[in-house]
Amino acid sequence: MSPSPIRVGLVGVTGYTGMELTRLLLAHPSFRLAVVTSRQEAGQSLSALYPFLQGFPAGDLVVAAPEAATLAAACDLVFLAVPHGAAMGLAAELLAGGCKVVDLSADFRLRDRAVYEKWYGIGHTQAEALAEAVYGLPELYAEAIARARLVANPGCYPTASILGLYPALAQDLIIPEDIIIDAKSGVSGAGRGPAVTSLFCEVQDTFRAYNLGAHRHTPEIEQELSAIAGRPLAVSFTTHLLPVNRGILATIYTRLKDPALPFERIRDAYAASYADHPFVRLLPAGKLPEIRFVRGTFFCDIALVPDPRTGRLIILSAIDNLCRGASGQAVANANLQCGLPPGTGLLQAALVP
Ligand SMILES: NC(=O)c1ccc[n+]([C@@H]2O[C@H](COP(=O)([O-])OP(=O)(O)OC[C@H]3O[C@@H](n4cnc5c(N)ncnc54)[C@H](OP(=O)(O)O)[C@@H]3O)[C@@H](O)[C@H]2O)c1
Repeated sequence: MSPSPIRVGLVGVTGYTGMELTRLLLAHPSFRLAVVTSRQEAGQSLSALYPFLQGFPAGDLVVAAPEAATLAAACDLVFLAVPHGAAMGLAAELLAGGCKVVDLSADFRLRDRAVYEKWYGIGHTQAEALAEAVYGLPELYAEAIARARLVANPGCYPTASILGLYPALAQDLIIPEDIIIDAKSGVSGAGRGPAVTSLFCEVQDTFRAYNLGAHRHTPEIEQELSAIAGRPLAVSFTTHLLPVNRGILATIYTRLKDPALPFERIRDAYAASYADHPFVRLLPAGKLPEIRFVRGTFFCDIALVPDPRTGRLIILSAIDNLCRGASGQAVANANLQCGLPPGTGLLQAALVP
């Protein structure tokens, strides 16, 4: 007899990460969507909301209002795909109701409450839940995630940046104080809410930087890189808006501690770090990652480019912001929390062209 499915809830089904979670959960062998919520669309069937769900059993689900008691009664695990500030209270209620939680927002990512309050401009009301939250980057923290009731799913830019830098920092190959992360994201990274800056005529046929020196993912990247380096560090982090739906490409400029270090040694360090992690792909020398080759997937594609003239190592890291950078990673974390291999239900090739 096959084991009964794990019942999952999804708060925020109408957002972009909620939409992506719906897509991924349909193909999952062990999770069954039990409750989906939206305040605006409660009462509608999922297939009325999303025509791509016609013919799937989940299409008959009726969207509910986000009530913690209803979710806790019907679900073993709940994904919170809601804006920061909206997740913290719900997460605490769901934990009290016996559910496991994966929060896609920033509410539990920053361990220091004061740092959260400074960068996000709101008070953190759930100190107890914050203290038990585990940062959900499966390649780095799988064991802790497997034991966690509450997982803080990483931000999209931090995912690309941390995976790109982890081997170089952990193996002491680069100078931690000299890191520049120059990152570009597709427009879905801003969420589905209407905003003039996301209108078609504002984003297509142009390319611009935004939030320089002030992006909220900065303290998250610094927190995690500092933990890897074993001392506090600051990075230069710049963000740009690409006129595409999905994808992040981070070009990361670092300085080698030993400029004479053979490139093979650097590649070996990366290959060894990710040997047991098939969803991080180190590209062959000379190949560079492209966002289209990770579209809709949980893969993170990494390339290393030595620049002997400047003593720099350039690291390129490409992900899909909605899948690896949000919903796919949330599924991987939920897999671990439920005793499944992290990649369960996540192996698919990119949708190309
Ligand atoms: N987009 C990305 O690439 C990305 C990547 C990584 C992480 N994230 C994070 O993931 C979360 C969701 O992002 P998104 O892009 O999917 O956002 P979004 O498109 O704006 O969707 C937000 C969803 O949350 C619901 N919601 C809003 N306020 C709520 C509240 N107070 N209580 C309950 N539900 C509420 C909305 O539905 P109703 O208003 O109808 O309730 C909607 O379904 C955010 O915290 C975001 O920072 C996003």
